[in-house]
Amino acid sequence: MAKVMVIGATGQIGSELTIELRKKYGGNNVVAVTRKSEFPKEMLESGPCEKWDVTNKEDMKKSVKKHGVEIIYQLASLLSVTSEKDPNAAFQINLIGLKNTIDVALECGVKKIFWPSSIAAFGPTTPRENTPQRTVLEPTTMYGVTKVAGENLLNYYNTHYERYGLDLRSLRYPGLISWRAEPGGGTTDYAVAIFYEAIKTGKYTCYLREDTMLPMMYMPDAIRGTLELMDAPREKLTVKGSYNFAAISFTPKELAQEIKKLLPEFKIQYAPDERQKIADSWPKKIDDSQARKDWGWKHEYDLAKMTKDMIENIRKKLRK
Ligand code: SER
Repeated sequence: MAKVMVIGATGQIGSELTIELRKKYGGNNVVAVTRKSEFPKEMLESGPCEKWDVTNKEDMKKSVKKHGVEIIYQLASLLSVTSEKDPNAAFQINLIGLKNTIDVALECGVKKIFWPSSIAAFGPTTPRENTPQRTVLEPTTMYGVTKVAGENLLNYYNTHYERYGLDLRSLRYPGLISWRAEPGGGTTDYAVAIFYEAIKTGKYTCYLREDTMLPMMYMPDAIRGTLELMDAPREKLTVKGSYNFAAISFTPKELAQEIKKLLPEFKIQYAPDERQKIADSWPKKIDDSQARKDWGWKHEYDLAKMTKDMIENIRKKLRK
């Protein structure tokens, strides 16, 4: 059984992906790593958990060696809004963290790395409708800058696979929506917060304009897609950087209308803030046909199916 490490295991993606990986590889074969947050009980009890910082290469090396790790998911990252508040920290965690992971992987015989990119790799000069796989990458956020630079690093090492023997894989995630893990500091966070507020208070004030269309995805699709990409035969993968990865696109108004079908009393207001500018620089809809062609990506959840599942599960979680 492969030895796997998830760095950023308590984050938005990590907290669900780590549990799935432990089901797949066995709890003891998946090391969960976080910098400072507390591990949830389920994670603490189902396998090894460690605390160190992705910017500390020596700590990473010791841990990778100790566990004989073969596959690393390097998910530690600051999201778009937090990255704008502290661009230097974003550069260190998002980009130096990735380079450290690559360096340690090469020194310690790790075979495969997964690293998340984002729709934030695109910018205002990118076509916003059906954004192609290969297009202009001129982001206006530090988060986006770290994603483009990271994609280029992956492209470099994958291009020179004969020399380095390291297999790096990546997805440009859209906004991710889950009832389990709440995001923090992202531009697409409204699409999670709206559900909690709709159930708790019956109303929500959205920080984006009602017509702001963004690419989004329900977390079960995102987790399954990530595992499918990691399992795909390397010779099928034609993208050496990061794959466009899409499911649904909607506006806050469309999401509110869908929620109203199940919670008719729900009321939404709009008070756009500085996050609007970030959202306006990102695509509305992504063309992910290359992922569908190369490794058979297919999403399952549309807006209606996701909304129903979110409301049912948050109600259970909050006992409402
Ligand atoms: N969900 C992220 C954000 O909003 C995009 O990758 O920052």
